[in-house]
Amino acid sequence: MKYFLTTAIDYVNSRPHLGTAYEKITADIIARYRRLAGYDTYFLMGNDEHSLNVFRRAQEQGKDPLAYCDEMEQVFRDVWKRLDVSYDDFIRTTDRKRHYPATQKLAQACYDNGDVYEGSYEGWYCEGCEAFKPEKDLVDGNCPIHNTKPKWIKEKNWFFRLSKYQQPLLKLYKEQPSFIEPEIRRNEILRLVEGGLEDISMSRAGQSWGIPVPFDPASVVYVWFDALINYAAAAGYGWNEEKYKTWWPANLHIVGKDITRFHCVFWPAMLMSAREPLPKQVFGHGWVYFKGERMSKSLGNIVDPLAAADRFGPDPLRLYLAKEIPYGGDGDFTWERFEEKYNADLANNLGNLVNRVASMTERYQKGSVKAASGGALAAVAADSVLAYRQAMEVHALHDGAAAAFRLVSAANNYIAETQPWALAKDPAQADRLNGVLSDLAEAVRIAATLLAPVIPSSAQEILRRLGDERPLQDRRLDADTEWRTSGERRILNAGALWPRIEAEKGVVNVTENDSGAPSAPSAPGTPATQASPQAAPQQPAQITIDDFAKIDLRTAKVLEAEKMPKSNRLLKLKVDVGEPEPRTILAGIAESYEPEQLVGKSIVIVANLAPRKMMGLESQGMVLAASPDGGKAIVLNSEPAPPGIKVR
Ligand code: MSP
Repeated sequence: MKYFLTTAIDYVNSRPHLGTAYEKITADIIARYRRLAGYDTYFLMGNDEHSLNVFRRAQEQGKDPLAYCDEMEQVFRDVWKRLDVSYDDFIRTTDRKRHYPATQKLAQACYDNGDVYEGSYEGWYCEGCEAFKPEKDLVDGNCPIHNTKPKWIKEKNWFFRLSKYQQPLLKLYKEQPSFIEPEIRRNEILRLVEGGLEDISMSRAGQSWGIPVPFDPASVVYVWFDALINYAAAAGYGWNEEKYKTWWPANLHIVGKDITRFHCVFWPAMLMSAREPLPKQVFGHGWVYFKGERMSKSLGNIVDPLAAADRFGPDPLRLYLAKEIPYGGDGDFTWERFEEKYNADLANNLGNLVNRVASMTERYQKGSVKAASGGALAAVAADSVLAYRQAMEVHALHDGAAAAFRLVSAANNYIAETQPWALAKDPAQADRLNGVLSDLAEAVRIAATLLAPVIPSSAQEILRRLGDERPLQDRRLDADTEWRTSGERRILNAGALWPRIEAEKGVVNVTENDSGAPSAPSAPGTPATQASPQAAPQQPAQITIDDFAKIDLRTAKVLEAEKMPKSNRLLKLKVDVGEPEPRTILAGIAESYEPEQLVGKSIVIVANLAPRKMMGLESQGMVLAASPDGGKAIVLNSEPAPPGIKVR
């Protein structure tokens, strides 16, 4: 089965930023998923070069425009490589072998079929969008996307009879409801087309930067008409009939919400006019904002995807973009949230699981496990695989990633439930211990396979540690996500994949005021009671962020709880803090809780309190509890949280 998918081709007047990278990374996840699912996949990307802004940028730098575009091609390719984007083909609109013949053929076909006529245009043109703007779309006279005043243009152009395609387009949307995804974009486009379509200009006069119009070589093809054709051009249209028959039509065009209309209205109308098959689907993803704002040069808030990849490698960035932003909707990026998610998903959850399984297998079984029959975890794995598939088939990347992480969390909980360290102390439990560890390894293997499209090099490394060196391209979703019940495997204990990062000084807990800027810290030593000397009871002295950072607060899960003999106040707890072995903590909460009430609960502990001996037992930490004067202690716990997460 074949699967041909494309991304928008980028303007090269500036380097890729996190927003353009988001599109390429998410498209790459879809391409990798299709390969994993066994499709013969063709993943196309490229650069859009005939824009006026590109021409101007080259001029500003004193460069020939083509030479400038050649340089930018390398810049773009280098970024995509660093982000592990596995495109199969990269097309440029200055490509004379493929793109020129395709563009001229399609323009000629529309002309020959009577859909192109000469006329004159007068109106607003936004050079940022490279599009004509109806007066009603302007906000205070400005383009709403670029916030700049469009230019008033009056010129003789060739026009494409878009208006003729209103009914055929409505018929297409009706008969092929999945042509536009997600639903929100479909509704936008439906409203737009139902409102009536005006003919569009398909050429620009008096310019040399572009592809000559075949029936009027003094004009060039309008940059959007030119750019859309890249998809068919790469597939062979106009220069390689055999390739074209093999690959066209595309299965999926992935584009941003701002340009969905070009892909769902102009493009199918152009293809209908030229009597060529239509793509199967256009997916209009949302935008990535930085702290809620559009990234822009003038605001100086552009996030460089390379800086984000340099922080922890490309995989954590890929995971963040796929898992944190429901695909199709808008999302936000902040460095703080990125770090938080890194710690939660990778350091504490997946990374910790891989580590624990490998270190326990090394310690208790000399590094190898024999596959067993599979217990509760096998059922969770089967559910996760099913949910993952269903999500990925409809490009719900966030749900796909979440399904894989459900298996990871279930495996971490399984460690807490089965307590391999306790099994290891009893020789009669040797088979059970092997069964638990082999089930865990199997769960990790399946989760890593599911996550391979999202975090490819990390998944490959996890699978290698589990004794399976095959390259990702040799793996298949069906065969490689089946629960295996036979065979022996050696597991490599090779250290932390994602070391937990601690808050950087001055970053954590700096609150933000309404303007988004960090608030100035209050002057050191300012007494808390200064404003109203008698108002409040005496407060403890203020501490600095550095003082706070010394306290290692972590989530923990209560595995066991019992009353301490001869004490009314103390409970003895065994808690999982995400470390290979559980800790024992003595907590003064026996008057508030029966031991059974606490088992299975998530609590918060001070993890770096020096161990203290109490009633002959060492307490390895302290449980956080609200302690009203004269009242009963209330252990702080809310929603269940995976053990070992930093609390701040
Ligand atoms: N050259 C046109 C596309 C022609 S396709 C035949 C173009 N180029 S672009 O460089 O401005 O944008 C490339 C893609 O990146 C578009 O799909 C656009 O929506 C997407 N994004 C640009 N900024 C974005 C975000 N901040 N977030 C997510 N995607 C964004 O448009």
